[in-house]
Amino acid sequence: MGRTVRRAAVGLTAGALVLGFPVAVSAQAGEPAEATAETLQASTLRDAAASQGIFVGTAVNDGLLSNSTYSSIASDEFSSVTAENVMKWESIQPSQGNFNFAGGDRLVNFAQANDQQVWGHTLVWHSQLPSWVRDGGMSASQLRQVMNTHITTVMDHYEGDVAYWDVVNEAFNEDGTRRPSVFQTTLGDGYIAEAFRTADAADPNAKLCINDYNIEADNAKSDGMFNLVSSLLNQGVPIDCVGFQSHLILDQVPSTFRSNLERFTNLGLEVVITELDIRVSMPADSAELQRQSQQFASVTSTCLAVEGCVGVTVWGISDRDSWVPDVFPGEGAACLWDDNYQPKPAYTGMLTALGGEPGGGEPEPPTGCSVSYVVNRWNTGSVVEVRITTSTALNGWSVNFTLPAGTITNHWNAQITQSGTTVRAANAAHNANVAAGGSFGFGFQTNSGATYTTPTISLNGANCTTA
Ligand code: XIL
Repeated sequence: MGRTVRRAAVGLTAGALVLGFPVAVSAQAGEPAEATAETLQASTLRDAAASQGIFVGTAVNDGLLSNSTYSSIASDEFSSVTAENVMKWESIQPSQGNFNFAGGDRLVNFAQANDQQVWGHTLVWHSQLPSWVRDGGMSASQLRQVMNTHITTVMDHYEGDVAYWDVVNEAFNEDGTRRPSVFQTTLGDGYIAEAFRTADAADPNAKLCINDYNIEADNAKSDGMFNLVSSLLNQGVPIDCVGFQSHLILDQVPSTFRSNLERFTNLGLEVVITELDIRVSMPADSAELQRQSQQFASVTSTCLAVEGCVGVTVWGISDRDSWVPDVFPGEGAACLWDDNYQPKPAYTGMLTALGGEPGGGEPEPPTGCSVSYVVNRWNTGSVVEVRITTSTALNGWSVNFTLPAGTITNHWNAQITQSGTTVRAANAAHNANVAAGGSFGFGFQTNSGATYTTPTISLNGANCTTA
């Protein structure tokens, strides 16, 4: 296992929010400065995932990239894209020696324009395999050469552009024995090790994965996968990761998902949720969509809880694009967006599990602000009037500062919460919008007449100067 395990590459975070504007707080002489941090929350899956150090991906349907609603969601919400079909054997080498990279190249271009990782799917698979390979009646040496040529040519073409490859897909039967694909029956058990060695030679920097479904639970099929990858590692075969497709059924998220992932990461492999969807018997009612939301959140949290789980990819954007209704009659509603590309409860569930919040939770910081903080004291109390001028127009504001002495007993023109010496004032309904160069004010009364210097005050996370 010479390949490294780590969280997703930091390069994916370029679109990410900078979290946690520090709020500097003036300290009284002899008191330590109290460091409070206001955390702005990510409002997209990709920003939220980046803040957790994982990627979040989707399968991309090449034919829908020209639909701007679809492509905006794909670019705004995801940091990784997987070719839903265009990198499969039947698309990329439909007849021997005839390689068609057009669809895959479109995906790579889209990903590069949007600062996304590309997940390559898939090189060696029994399905969507053209008949010239599947039914070609090739000898072992012919098929070996055909398999290796396919891997090498495709990986060479995408070298540097594809971060991860599903080198082998769906090699197992449900009982953990090998699926009798043409590769298995012609080449024997060793075809998997051979495919990985060939892939490693073609692109030594790509991460190389084996991918399958119904291996999320600790079961006979995942035992078969576990035994295989253990033996590959023992033989020094270059393998980096196991993909858990996770085509799940509502209310059937396995309870052993986390411990099962961990037995693989304990081998030093990365694990990835590669094709997540959660299908429902149609029509789906609102209670089912709520449970689906919790279950998307639970799978996401499971990945976050497992060191070495580097990403979660969902299989398609909207319910209308999903493969589910075609393959599982009577089932559907398996994705995060509905038939009209509106986010479903499942979207919010997944975003929240990643630590994000729809709308972001906090408004944008201004480029500059100045504050006047006027205190009228008497022996047992004070009234403070705060007025802030902002250089940037505000659509909602939140002001943070410390109150070194006293408790707030009354306040006006803001919603105020106090926790110890930390105070947060948020706009009232009537003063959320402030023009660039404009100002707003609020005030409060305390039960302490103690004197203190003007605290540092931040507006939407940006520290203001004192007027
Ligand atoms: C599916 C695609 O979503 C469909 O468009 C296509 O018709 C069939 O394949 N496991 C996999 C994916 O590894 O490649 C499959 O994708 C879904 C199951």
